Amino acid sequence: PITRHYRFDIKLQNVTRLCHTKSMLTVNGKFPGPVITAREGDRVLIKVVNHVNNNVSFHWHGIRQLRSGWADGPAYITQCPIQTGQSYVYNFTTVGQRGTLFWHAHISWLRATLYGPIIILPKHNVSYPFGKPHKEIPIIFGEWWNADTEAVINQALQNGAGPNVSDAYTINGLPGPLYNCSQKETFKLKVKPGKTYLLRLINAALNDDLFLSIANHTLTTIEADAVYVKPFKTNILLIAPGQTTNVLLETKHQNPKANFLIAARPYFTGQGTFDNTTTAGILEYHQSNTSSSRGSKSLPLIKPNLPAINDTAYAANFSGKFRSLANVQYPAKVPLAVDKSFFFTVGLGNSPCPKNQTCQGPNGTKFAASVNNISFALPTAAILQSYFFGKSNGVFATDFPSTPLFPFNYTGTPPNNTIVSNGTKVVVLPFNTSVEVVLQDTSILGAESHPLHLHGYNFFVVGQGFGNFNPKNDTANFNLVDPVERNTVGVPSGGWVAIRFFADNPGAWFMHCHFEVHLSWGLKMVWIVLDGKLPNQKLPPPPADLPKC
Ligand code: C2O
Repeated sequence: PITRHYRFDIKLQNVTRLCHTKSMLTVNGKFPGPVITAREGDRVLIKVVNHVNNNVSFHWHGIRQLRSGWADGPAYITQCPIQTGQSYVYNFTTVGQRGTLFWHAHISWLRATLYGPIIILPKHNVSYPFGKPHKEIPIIFGEWWNADTEAVINQALQNGAGPNVSDAYTINGLPGPLYNCSQKETFKLKVKPGKTYLLRLINAALNDDLFLSIANHTLTTIEADAVYVKPFKTNILLIAPGQTTNVLLETKHQNPKANFLIAARPYFTGQGTFDNTTTAGILEYHQSNTSSSRGSKSLPLIKPNLPAINDTAYAANFSGKFRSLANVQYPAKVPLAVDKSFFFTVGLGNSPCPKNQTCQGPNGTKFAASVNNISFALPTAAILQSYFFGKSNGVFATDFPSTPLFPFNYTGTPPNNTIVSNGTKVVVLPFNTSVEVVLQDTSILGAESHPLHLHGYNFFVVGQGFGNFNPKNDTANFNLVDPVERNTVGVPSGGWVAIRFFADNPGAWFMHCHFEVHLSWGLKMVWIVLDGKLPNQKLPPPPADLPKC
């Protein structure tokens, strides 16, 4: 293992898309930001230097951060923000992980423009279980707003109306040919015939699950959230924000008489306005024996079929196909017994409208989102420091409920009182607790899928279903043999999902919906995992340059 050094200079840069130029936050002037590459076991040091007027903070999404919780990054959870003129070195090791992840800003909505891939290669002399691909290509999906990120946030939060829909989805920062004034800004994947390409797919969009397909090509899914899975073939993928999926693309015969569209468009079951446009790139074959005058440009473009925008059946069926390899080399260490089980309702609700505001939620209330009816309020100090130095008073409380305060028919007609309360509450777990969490979607303001992301851990998805979770029947059907292991799972619209993990990583770990708007509305909570007894079961003290609030 070696140490890899990166430097992130946060600065403004003019970027043009859809014929609109805006000055926006970037890492090193790039959009999307740089790729971080490491090998399994390497140490990674990223020095972030803040040259802008915004506070910043960065998260290495899916990195386990084993006993390096100070480098996890969510603002006011594991650290105070990096203020103007300050810097901080994120320092972690890629222990026991290899695959595709990504990094993004984790403060306010700054990840709208601050994101990029993380690629962890296997150790030297360890090969991929699926063979050696001809080439590896990161493909990161995002969103583009013509307006400033600030304006987008304000619109979403000030009157509680939900976000202004983006002006385009993007592939590696490019909206593609289906948008106006965007022909030139198209991602092109140039391939040779008869080869296997590894596509590292990442959904970094703020607020949308995406269906994705490549015309006339079947993809083989081989990895989810940087964990190998049993390979399966599909024509259409679904990727939630926060999820990554590696697929193999096998190219066809010489000189096909067409180019092929790579297209992605949202899966959406909520109410209200949304962006139903399609981002596209082009898969182009290297043409042998064509003269330069008739290159691939003149070829017809074939478009793929994508499911209907609200095709929940397809979404649930697709998510259910993932299975761990669960073999000798890559075992699935699923907790078979459970020490603590939790039942969390996740969904939208409403909170009282603050004075002097007009709110656009039901009956003049403000839109809110919650876990067990608690809408999480960010503290003004960071939770991890407060916990570590025994100064939690006035920062957070430890009475987060393990079941809903008032049970109801979660997927039926909602009760009259759907008001949520604000609070900064955490669950405290002794070291190595075996945890089960059932996440139940609620239909209070309409059923909606929620991509739930857990920091500091991978978890096993042991079950999922529609309707209300039934402890007796559903538990009996859990898959404890080869459930998929990941860091972000879609709670099905109008359904539930059950996850298990061992709490073997001491620290303060955020769990939240990876839709930025739901995160802002409060669909988030924190686990504090206590130190174990042995020296290698304890969180070391913070680095000297950890930012202060
Ligand atoms: Cu990718 Cu807390 O997020």
